[in-house]
Amino acid sequence: MTTHPQTGRVVFLDGSGDLPMIEIRTPWSSAEIHLLGATVSQFQKKNEPPMLWVSKFSRFEKDVPIRGGIPVIFPWFGKPADKPGQHGFVRQQMWEAKEVSSPPDGSVFVRLHLPSVGASPLCPGALLEYLVGIGEQLTAELIVTNQGPQSFAFEDCLHTYFATGDISGVSVSGLQGQEYLDAVQNFLPIKDAAPAIRVDQEVDRVYLNAPQATEIRDEEWKRVIRVEKENSRSTVVWNPWIAKSKRMQDFGDEEYLQMVCVESGNVRTDAITLAPGATHRLKVKLSSKPV
Ligand code: BG6
Repeated sequence: MTTHPQTGRVVFLDGSGDLPMIEIRTPWSSAEIHLLGATVSQFQKKNEPPMLWVSKFSRFEKDVPIRGGIPVIFPWFGKPADKPGQHGFVRQQMWEAKEVSSPPDGSVFVRLHLPSVGASPLCPGALLEYLVGIGEQLTAELIVTNQGPQSFAFEDCLHTYFATGDISGVSVSGLQGQEYLDAVQNFLPIKDAAPAIRVDQEVDRVYLNAPQATEIRDEEWKRVIRVEKENSRSTVVWNPWIAKSKRMQDFGDEEYLQMVCVESGNVRTDAITLAPGATHRLKVKLSSKPV
């Protein structure tokens, strides 16, 4: 399918591992969306390095989440004892592209959905849609509707892997003074007064009650990425550092030097309960500028 050539261009093709994907070009940027997990696997503005990071070791296989980009986490986050596996089950399912539109300004919107999700007893009656907007900025909106007769509770997260120059020159600001749960120390609550998070060891922090925007400053690439969000009370900041990188099969031993995850969602005590007929929209807007 192709949209207006002077504005946005959209091509459906088979990417790595023959997985179906969508390539998008706009006057400002290019992007890729894999149907596997509805994973936005690239977004790059003209004259800038890529904004998103994907591992060279990502498997790109059916039923396996892509290691990088923006995996969609639903209906649970992490590894609760009563749930099968980590980070829900939609990041490894094949979504369907439902609609592509290109407004006159040249941006492109792709709407995906996952029709099967409501059959799961973990979120009965759920309808999942995902609206990705590509232009000067990247927007991603996960829309959960309860079409069933009963309420259900869920966690959600847009697990965003940001590409960076050398991690030693990266800082994440916007969360100063806020308590977080330290997943490296069995979710010990900690308050950090530092003005920004520097990554010089394994970082795995879950900030609850944190609806505010964050910024990722990158000294090497001389860029600031701004993460704005709506209907997201949680932010997770993660870098696996040396030992965990080595343990992960689909993550290069040294790749922790080039990425940081700043994840937007609603997890743990920020989980959402959705009444019958209700809709929840988790939205992020990612923008960048040189510094
Ligand atoms: C983060 C978690 O969100 O995801 C980390 O806070 C976890 O603890 C990371 O290691 C990656 O998870 P996975 O399942 O993609 O390897």
